Amino acid sequence: MADQFHGGWAKTNLNLSVLPGAAYAAKRRSAVSERFPGERIIVPSGGLKVRSNDFDYAFRPHSAFVHLTAEQGTQAVPDSVLVFEPTGSGHSVTLFTRQRSPRGIGPNSTEFYSDRRHGEFWIGRRRTLSETADTLGIEVATRDELEQAISRSIPTRVLRGEDTYVDALVPPTPQADAELVTFLSELRLVKDEWEIGRLREAVDCTVTGFTDVLSELGDATRHARGERWIEGTFNRRARLGGYGLGFDTIAAAGSHSCILHWMQNDGPVRDGDLLLLDAGAEADSFYTGDVTRTLPVSGHFTEAQRRVYDLVFAAQSAGIAALRPGAPFGAFHDAAMRVIAEELDAWGLRPYGTTASTPGPDLYRRYTLCGSGHMLGLDCHDCAGARDEAYSAGVLRRGHVLTVEPGLYFQPDDLTVPAELRGIGVRIEDDLVITSSGAECLSSGLPRSADEVEAWMASVR
Ligand code: GLY
Ligand code: MN
Repeated sequence: MADQFHGGWAKTNLNLSVLPGAAYAAKRRSAVSERFPGERIIVPSGGLKVRSNDFDYAFRPHSAFVHLTAEQGTQAVPDSVLVFEPTGSGHSVTLFTRQRSPRGIGPNSTEFYSDRRHGEFWIGRRRTLSETADTLGIEVATRDELEQAISRSIPTRVLRGEDTYVDALVPPTPQADAELVTFLSELRLVKDEWEIGRLREAVDCTVTGFTDVLSELGDATRHARGERWIEGTFNRRARLGGYGLGFDTIAAAGSHSCILHWMQNDGPVRDGDLLLLDAGAEADSFYTGDVTRTLPVSGHFTEAQRRVYDLVFAAQSAGIAALRPGAPFGAFHDAAMRVIAEELDAWGLRPYGTTASTPGPDLYRRYTLCGSGHMLGLDCHDCAGARDEAYSAGVLRRGHVLTVEPGLYFQPDDLTVPAELRGIGVRIEDDLVITSSGAECLSSGLPRSADEVEAWMASVR
């Protein structure tokens, strides 16, 4: 058979070496193997998702797949499938993926030219199968070989909903498949040292993005869609420093700061307003930061803005102080909410529409709503498939990474608050890793207190 890469094509070499995360991913695969002896386990990467007509969103593999392969950024190949096949003593693991594009042209045109989603003429050079095997430290085969490889009839669990071809090949076993989701999610709860390193990179890039935004705040105030300027500035940094974004940037100025996930970002940024920026850069490893700062656009908080800011700051500080291994996961939220509830009670705020009669967090949900933080990792809201007893009703453990992000949001049309507070939204969010005795803040490169924020803004401008 003629070599498909000859006929005028030079051999190329990507000069790749084994990825540093590969050894850690191998340990995670061993944990999967131990948990499911004698069963086949299938974890697809997922594929391209259509944005509209013949254009797709940028590919981002499923987090469980990344966790088990340490696959990185632009190297990731859509429609890859990781298969654990039981052997006598454990499992052999194979990655079924796409090889390089065959280069025929003309009437028998093959992938290189004719496939705009996967052809290398369209999207660029993929790794050869052996390059993939070398970088990930996994046996590799082509996706075409998958069906034959899993033809033996044995108990099989699939991470479903990611690959329609795989879903159709293997009959569902709903309870067994759900247990797999739970296990893979809980496997990600405690981060190893390599993951914490990647989270540091993601958070560092996020911090740099906030500094970039600060230096361009003036530009943002001169544009009718200043929020978009902010979004663009942060997103540029995220693309320069990593793969992209962990979630769409929330650039919320003025009363948009009261909308938790304001991602339309089509409003102006005015002197005298607050800018709530909630953003996260996703590193090439796919780990993400998730940080929020609320900044006075003019460089100085008004008295009302500072009153709200100081309260959220005190709540966040109380939440952070409650972080330690062995503490219930909910303790930091309770600590933060207690501070908010006592102070709002002292301000005499009495929201309608709540049934609680004594001051407490429930009474003030109208102004605070959401939980005060979440696990962070490959997903912004990481480990979402974990059982309550392992996560929200569990205890913190060394190596957990989470956000602490209390907020207060006084809607512009809320008649239960004094007029000067309406339209003020404040959230302060940091990323922390639980250590052996407490917690380390990964995002400490950004100022938190009102005084520090004002001094920082004065220094950058
Ligand atoms: N930063 C987005 C969120 O935590 O929901
Ligand atoms: Mn968050």
